[in-house]
Amino acid sequence: MDILLWHKILSPYELAVQELVLKFDHMKKEHRERGIYCPIENVTGRVKTISSILEKMQKKEIPLEQMEEQVEDIAGIRIICQFVEDIERVEKLIEARSDMKILCEKDYIRNQKESGYRSYHLIVQYTVQTIDGPRALQVEIQIRTMAMDFWATVEHSLQYKYKMKIPAHIKTRLSNAADAILSLDKEMSSVRSEIMDAQVSSQLQNRLVADILNTIENLYRLTNQREVEKIQDEFYRIYAAHDMEELKRFHQQLDIIAEGYRAQSVAEEM
Ligand code: GTP
Ligand code: MG
Repeated sequence: MDILLWHKILSPYELAVQELVLKFDHMKKEHRERGIYCPIENVTGRVKTISSILEKMQKKEIPLEQMEEQVEDIAGIRIICQFVEDIERVEKLIEARSDMKILCEKDYIRNQKESGYRSYHLIVQYTVQTIDGPRALQVEIQIRTMAMDFWATVEHSLQYKYKMKIPAHIKTRLSNAADAILSLDKEMSSVRSEIMDAQVSSQLQNRLVADILNTIENLYRLTNQREVEKIQDEFYRIYAAHDMEELKRFHQQLDIIAEGYRAQSVAEEM
């Protein structure tokens, strides 16, 4: 039998994980920049350890030559959402992309596992470019809420501790906890629109304040200090009043003033 070169096998999967984490993080950034609510809260990724790959192959009697085909989670991405409703939106974002092809879906939210596990899984095909050419790989994407993730993380640690034989009384506790997580997710969903609005406004305010201060800083270079100090004091006064509409008006006026100074300084240079 040929020697398995693990590093060579796993290397493209490492690339896939890095690229995908970058791409999902960028989706978050695009939402933020446009001031729209992002259904993705957090993204992580990992390549399965060799020992965990071997363990799975042994458990499922997968022959070595079928490893890459049958171990679908060598590359794994986990996307954490705030609300159950966000999961479907993330799925739609993935569906719409041309660089990820959904091969299969496992809905453990509608079909909760006996353990109490809830999560939405996709197996996607994702192609990386290597020095040997393109490689189409399978990647498992787990999409779940923060609450589901909390439960799964704790339960996974217990599985590890008890080597899959979790005592009955702990299983009962976990099952109760899974019920509590389910009602927590429902409770959170009921205030989702309020929370979404609040988060979008807070993002907008962050951008507005950063823009205003940036303009003030630029003005400082173009005009006299006393003038800019007055503008800055006015900004602090409006900011302290917590009036977004007033802040927006101030921003617009400031832009007009800044434009005037810019035109003036260009004229002076000429
Ligand atoms: P694995 O051999 O565990 O990968 O299962 P599988 O290949 O049959 O696929 P399945 O969809 O059952 O599980 C895929 C992944 O979901 C697992 O690797 C875990 O990360 C996660 N998962 C599935 N079931 C459970 C569970 O009961 N508890 C926890 N904590 N995670 C689970
Ligand atoms: Mg797995």
